[in-house]
Amino acid sequence: MMKVACLLLVSVVLGSVVATDAAAVGWKPIKNIKDPHVAEIANYAVTEHDRRSGQKLKLQKVVKGDTQVVAGINYRLILAATDASSTRNYEAIVWEKAWLHFRNLTSFTSLFD
Ligand SMILES: *[C@@H]1O[C@H](CO)[C@@H](O)[C@H](O)[C@H]1NC(C)=O
Repeated sequence: MMKVACLLLVSVVLGSVVATDAAAVGWKPIKNIKDPHVAEIANYAVTEHDRRSGQKLKLQKVVKGDTQVVAGINYRLILAATDASSTRNYEAIVWEKAWLHFRNLTSFTSLFD
């Protein structure tokens, strides 16, 4: 009986460790990729990237994305964008604190070559 209780305790503890790890990462897929707010975040990401880099990427579409709650929301979007020569996918991370009207592009990277 003690052994069973002990095993149960161990699995509960292990289970909560795993659950805590998942919560710390906490990225959830965006279900409606066509949401106008997602489009707005994507447009902001490409415009801000262009402003900072001097590139002239144009957003084609949002391919997919995830969000993470962190004193606001992190959006991790996979975007297709076109420069003078080609269309590629990029990963953009935008941190938004909507109630403060704060938004920042924290990362923008090309996914291929
Ligand atoms: C926005 O993100 C960039 C890149 O991480 C950072 O250098 C910059 O300080 C941030 N700006 C603000 C206002 O948080």
